[in-house]
Order: sequence, then C-alpha cells, then structure tokens
Amino acid sequence: MFLKKVFLILIILILFFLVAFILPAEKTHEETQSRKAYDLTDVNMLVKADVQTELIEYKGKKAFRLKQEKGERIAYLKDLEFVNGIIELDIAAIPYYTGIVFRVRSPHIYEGIYFRPQNSRHSDPVRRGHTVQYTASPRYTWYYLREKYPEKYEAAVDIPPDEWFHVKVVVSGMEAKVFVNEAKSPCLVVKDLKHGLSKGSVGVWCGNTSSGTFANLTIEPGPPFQFERVEAAEERAISGVSYTVEQKFFLDIFKKRRSVRKFKPTLIPDEHIMKILDAARSAPTSGNQQPWKFLVIQDREKLNKLKAECVSAALERAKKRDPVDPVKLESLRKRYTENLTGYLSAPVFILVLTDKNSRYPSYNKWDGPLAAGYLILAARALGYGTVYTTDSFPADITKKVFAVPDNFEQICCIPVGVPESWPNSPPKKPLQEFVVFEKLIKGVNYDVPIQRTTIELDQKTIGDYVGKFKFEPNITISVTQTDSHLFVQITGQPKVEIFPEAKDKFFLKVVDAQITFVRDTEGRISKLLLHQGGRTIPAEKIQN
Ligand SMILES: Cc1cc2nc3c(=O)[nH]c(=O)nc-3n(C[C@H](O)[C@H](O)[C@H](O)COP(=O)(O)O)c2cc1C
Repeated sequence: MFLKKVFLILIILILFFLVAFILPAEKTHEETQSRKAYDLTDVNMLVKADVQTELIEYKGKKAFRLKQEKGERIAYLKDLEFVNGIIELDIAAIPYYTGIVFRVRSPHIYEGIYFRPQNSRHSDPVRRGHTVQYTASPRYTWYYLREKYPEKYEAAVDIPPDEWFHVKVVVSGMEAKVFVNEAKSPCLVVKDLKHGLSKGSVGVWCGNTSSGTFANLTIEPGPPFQFERVEAAEERAISGVSYTVEQKFFLDIFKKRRSVRKFKPTLIPDEHIMKILDAARSAPTSGNQQPWKFLVIQDREKLNKLKAECVSAALERAKKRDPVDPVKLESLRKRYTENLTGYLSAPVFILVLTDKNSRYPSYNKWDGPLAAGYLILAARALGYGTVYTTDSFPADITKKVFAVPDNFEQICCIPVGVPESWPNSPPKKPLQEFVVFEKLIKGVNYDVPIQRTTIELDQKTIGDYVGKFKFEPNITISVTQTDSHLFVQITGQPKVEIFPEAKDKFFLKVVDAQITFVRDTEGRISKLLLHQGGRTIPAEKIQN
C-alpha cells in the first residue's frame, strides 16, 4: 500500500516536471529558432530614404537613431519580404513621434504603428488616448483617421518617460495587435489594415520634427496569407510563396521573348501555325467583337516581291528627304535589302489585320495589337522567334502585293521562325520605374522630363573618360570608346552608350541616369558620379 502511494506520488511529480519545464522549454526553443535579430546599427542592411541617421549609446543600449528633422522619415531593411509575423523592437521614450513600419513597399507606402510618449501620462484623458497610433502611408494619415474614425486607430498605453520601452506588433492577415512592455493584452488592435493583404519590408519611423531612437529589432515570420475559396495555384501566386512549374514556364515566356531579325530556313508545321493563331484569337476584344484576320504568307515568290517593293519604296522616300547622292543611296539600298532579307528569312510571315466593318471599328486599334501580343508569346512558347514590325512593311505595299481588300487595316506584320540565334535582351528599364502604388508623387516617382542635348567633344577629351571605375567591392563600371562614341557597362549589365551634354557631364538614353566625371588637381579623371533615381553613387577610377 505504502509502495503504491510512493509510486503514484512519483508519477505525479514526473508529470509535473514534464509540464512545468520540458514542454515550455521546447516551445521557447522553437520560437528562438524562427525569430531573427536584425542589427539596425549595421546601416548597410538598411534602405534610408533621404534620412539622416546616427549610431549612439542610449541608456545602456547600442542604438540606431533617425535624427531630428522635418517631415516623416523611415529607414527599412533591404531585401526583406515580411507578410505575417511578430515584430519586436525597443524604442526610447523621447517626446514626439516614433514607431515601427511594416509591409513597406517603398519609402512612401507602408503600414505603421507609432507612439507619442509625451501623451502617455498626460493629465487630460483625451491626450492619453492618443499615445499609440496606427497609420497607413500615404493616404491614411493620423489626421484623416482621427477625423473619420475617432478613437478607432489610436489608444492609451502607459509608457514610463525617458526609458526604453518594448514594443511587440503581431501582424496576421488584415490584423495588427500592438503590445507594450510586459502587457498580456494589446493596447491597440487594428482589424482592417488599410493596404489589405500586402507584403514588404520592416523598418523604423519618426514623425515631423521628431527624432527616433531604436534598438533590438527582431522579426519572427508567420505563415503566409490564408485564403478561402481560391484555387491552390491562385493562392500560391498571390501569397508569393512559390510557383508551380506551369506558372514558372508561363511567366518565363514573357522574359524570354525577343525580337528576332534573322531566321533559320527550318519550316514550321501547319499545326504549330494554327496553335499560335488559336492563342492569338483568345485575346480580349471590345464587346467580344473579334475583328481580326490573320493572313499567313509562306510563298517565297510573294515574299521576294514584297522585299523588292519595300526596298524601292524606302529608297524613293529617302530620295524625297535628301538631294540624291548616288553613293549614299547605294549604301541605303544595301542596308534596307539586308534588313528585309533578315526579316523575310523566316519561313512564315503573318499579317495581323482588323476589319473596318467590325461591330465597333473605333475599338480595332486596341483589339488588333492585343492579338498580335498573344501571337508573339504563343510563338515563343513553341520555341519560335518573331518580330513585331510596322514601318518596315508599309501597309500600301502589303495591300498591293498580297491583294488585301480595302476593308482591312494592317496592324502589324510578324515574321515567325526558328531564330538563327536568340538575341540578348536590349536594356530594359527597372520595374520600379514603371510601378507606382496608390499615388504618383512629384519628385519621387515622376518629374518633369529634362530635355537633354548632346554636344560635340574632341577625340582627346573623349579619350580622357576611358577606364574602369569601382562602385562596390564586386561592381565596376567600364567606360570604353568606339570611334567618337563612349559606352558604359556595369558588371552584369549590358553595354550602353552615354552622350555628352557638357564637358565631363554625360547622360544615358535607355534609362534616366547621368554620369559626372570628376577630375583631380592635375585635370585627370579620378572618379565618376552616377546619378540615378535621386541618388548619387561615386565610383573611384581603378584602371586606365
Ligand atoms: C509598335 C512596334 C513597332 C515595331 N516596329 C519594328 C520594326 O518595324 N522593325 C523592327 O525590327 N522592330 C520593330 N519593333 C520591335 C522593337 O524594336 C523591339 O520590340 C524593341 O527593340 C525591344 O526588343 P525586344 O522585343 O527584344 O524586347 C516594333 C515593336 C513595336 C511594339
């Protein structure tokens, strides 16, 4: 009996020991594994949107400070895509406005939680209720939210003055909960984050005329968005977690399509031609009018006639522009013939036409090019090259050569074939240059374009600029010269021409960027400054 009792007590003790120590210990272990600390004092990790920062020691902590300045400012982590999770940070309780930003998509688009520590212990309860604030830049300012939804997006919370306080923001889908110090319940719950199910970086923020002092940022990522009633593939595409093989293949087609201007004689089976045109006809049209005709030409005789007619028409145009110079005319004839021979080396030549008698003829100008876009992508998916041509094959000539009736309008001509080789992509502007969320802001994502004019430089001056310049440890800019033209090539990017607008000042045409060369006291080029997207990046000369 006694032994039985001892045995029972022993079992209870073991169970107690398991529940009290081992199980929670494992949970803590799990938490620390997925939580990552970010050293804000490592400024190389941050995107600083025109803000002044400093590293300081504040009340025993190594801290990162956004200096006191006008306007709202943020600094956020580079290359971080935060969706859901727990963000923790220590903030110094210094008066004014200081906080956390998350799902940062650009310096002006983010969700934010910030504090007004000076209100925390104010004698006026209304002021106390304005201690923690939710905002969503650029549209949902504190002022807008307070006016429209009083007390919904701000709350009271106790923050001891002149101390560090700890903030935890738990973000999940459309919701954010804010905890301060050891509090078990949130001081603010936002149930309808204004940017919806967005994602982006995490950073720190401070408001107008305020500084912000921060330390110990940690982020514990949570699960991706949970969607109901959407297909699995759609869910994956939206949450950005991963793409199926089919999705990847499809998206790659857009990137891999190139304008091809020389083809192998390999023939294309009719089945492929029909597949490509079947894709073209699935393009959207106004009122579903489907106003197209795809005229497919494979007859070499007709195509040779087209070439001859196009060359002589181009020469006639040239003669009208300039007084006749037989040498120049001959070189033009050679160039046109060469270009057209390249296009027409494709075994298949397709005219994309729209019917002027369609149901909504004024919409043909949108419907026509859309089908052509589908056509060139479908051709790429089957491994064929294409080129969307307009002026190279004037409509009056194709009309005559192919007997196109009057009621059809030519949208474009598309040679289709196996490329002799796939060309490299010409320089493309970065995605960021095209995409603006919510609002176009002057000076940030659009500006009045500056008209730049090229000046002539003598050969000696042009030669001054040639050399290699170092940006970052592994990134250089090479400046090279061909005849009187200068080119730059940044590591891993295509070579592009630069044009002089003044001595030592050049501009690029493919993107909005300029280069200033800096000379030393003896007049030799010692470095260059690349101006792009509002930033100036210096690169020291390392080689002639
Ligand atoms: C409306 C339009 C007209 C074009 N006309 C011609 C043309 O007549 N001759 C030509 O070689 N390429 C023509 N192109 C192709 C462009 O030169 C080509 O798309 C551009 O240089 C980018 O290269 P990528 O297509 O390889 O991305 C045209 C493209 C478009 C969209």
